[in-house]
Amino acid sequence: MSNAKLLVVGELNVDLILNEIHAFPTVGKETIAEEMNICLGSSSAIMAANSAALGVDTAFCGMVGDDYFGEFVLRELRSKSVDCAHIKTRKGQKTGCTLVMSYEQDRANVTFPGVMNALTIHDIPLGQIDSYQHLHLSSVFLQEGIRQDIEQVLIKAKTVGMTTSLDLQWDPAEQWAFDYARCLPYVDVFMPNEAELLALTGAGSVGSAIETIQPYLNTLALKMGRNGSMGIRGDEQVAVPAFEGTQFVDAIGAGDSFNAGFIRKYMAGGSLEDCLREGNLMGAVNTTAAGGTGAFCDRQKLSENIQAFWGLELNLI
Ligand SMILES: Nc1ncnc2c1ncn2[C@@H]1O[C@H](COP(=O)(O)OP(=O)(O)OP(=O)(O)O)[C@@H](O)[C@H]1O
Ligand SMILES: [Mg+2]
Repeated sequence: MSNAKLLVVGELNVDLILNEIHAFPTVGKETIAEEMNICLGSSSAIMAANSAALGVDTAFCGMVGDDYFGEFVLRELRSKSVDCAHIKTRKGQKTGCTLVMSYEQDRANVTFPGVMNALTIHDIPLGQIDSYQHLHLSSVFLQEGIRQDIEQVLIKAKTVGMTTSLDLQWDPAEQWAFDYARCLPYVDVFMPNEAELLALTGAGSVGSAIETIQPYLNTLALKMGRNGSMGIRGDEQVAVPAFEGTQFVDAIGAGDSFNAGFIRKYMAGGSLEDCLREGNLMGAVNTTAAGGTGAFCDRQKLSENIQAFWGLELNLI
């Protein structure tokens, strides 16, 4: 039996990142990229890897194909101390891949979901789930199997005494087929960004979007990019400003790192404000190095950077 305390259920893929591309891709032509990197992709994996980097015992439940990219994902997660016992390898299937074409500030992405859609409630270790304290679900619209089972997954987790968090992420199909009235009562912490909350509710403003979901809500942790984050729990409403960065590289994965910081504090029993502050801090840390996990490699270095950039002591054991 695993002694992990955080269980992350989600999608897995590699990011194939092309930088310094000479021209925009055109059908029938060829262009050159000066730089290429292959790294661990997927929001859920970044959240899990960074939680483990912050000292949280973390296990991942997901699926890869029996191919080179699947082996790569497993190797990367293991190297970041994420327990991979609940990652299944599907024979004859392909691991997901995102081709990221990076142009200065912006990126054009093409995602091949591969085996992401195949994960269902039956793959989640629900029998052993009571050995975990917290379940984090992410990227629901990229995982058709999980999207269909989500209410049952959440109910089961609550039944065995776990706390739960959910980051839906963007819906590429823009259908937003998530029944928030039924599901949110089983979500302890709902973690969208502003654009996702507006799209989900169809509301014209963040205020009315919050009013729409409020009857079903436990805690809302709303991510607002450079404006920081806002928390709502019952009558309590707290806004926490972002940590200004002097060392900005890119914001890839900032939301996932926010989730890792927030949930670490939440699992330790922190106040809503403390959870938001640690989320913001890890979101800001994320922006100081390339990609979603670059800033979270070494715990000693992480603490030193937080001290150097923001004068804060972070006690990571
Ligand atoms: N440029 C920045 N400088 C400082 N902090 C930032 C910056 N960008 C993001 N953050 C911090 O990270 C948190 C999460 O980022 P963001 O709001 O972009 O999440 P998201 O939209 O879910 O991102 P993602 O695209 O990674 O899913 C913010 O609430 C903020 O505290
Ligand atoms: Mg996000």
